[in-house]
Amino acid sequence: MLDKNKYALFLLLLALFLSVAAALEKDESITVKASVWVRNRLPSGQNVTIHCQSKDDDLGVHTILPNDIYNFEFHNNIWGTTLFFCRVTTSYGQGLYDFYKYSRDKKRCTVCVYRVTKDGVSALSTVPGGTDFFFKWQ
Ligand SMILES: *[C@@H]1O[C@H](CO)[C@@H](O)[C@H](O)[C@H]1NC(C)=O
Repeated sequence: MLDKNKYALFLLLLALFLSVAAALEKDESITVKASVWVRNRLPSGQNVTIHCQSKDDDLGVHTILPNDIYNFEFHNNIWGTTLFFCRVTTSYGQGLYDFYKYSRDKKRCTVCVYRVTKDGVSALSTVPGGTDFFFKWQ
């Protein structure tokens, strides 16, 4: 009898937890907003082609004209697993890189700035003491 009650209580708490988690996940006011900005810094007027995706979203293929910027913004999920990866194609080289990864970027940037150059893609932190890094063409 007691075990049955405990089991019912367990199910009730589980259902409660799942519905609260689902509600939190939809609440954009509690999740951190971030954005990715990619600037075309290729020499001699070359275009950059970029295709960004997450597990749930395909942002499509975009052309970044010389000196122009492509950007997108998003809300981090409450699980801390937000990941956006982009394929960058240029006449100098190409590659597929993580442009936003919560575990790597949470302390680096909420505005995450990238520059496409002839050697690859450089990531520039926008917070004091944040780390910069560089993706070579693959
Ligand atoms: C860059 O893209 C634009 C728009 O798609 C196109 O008109 C232009 O010819 C392209 N430039 C080069 C160098 O490929």
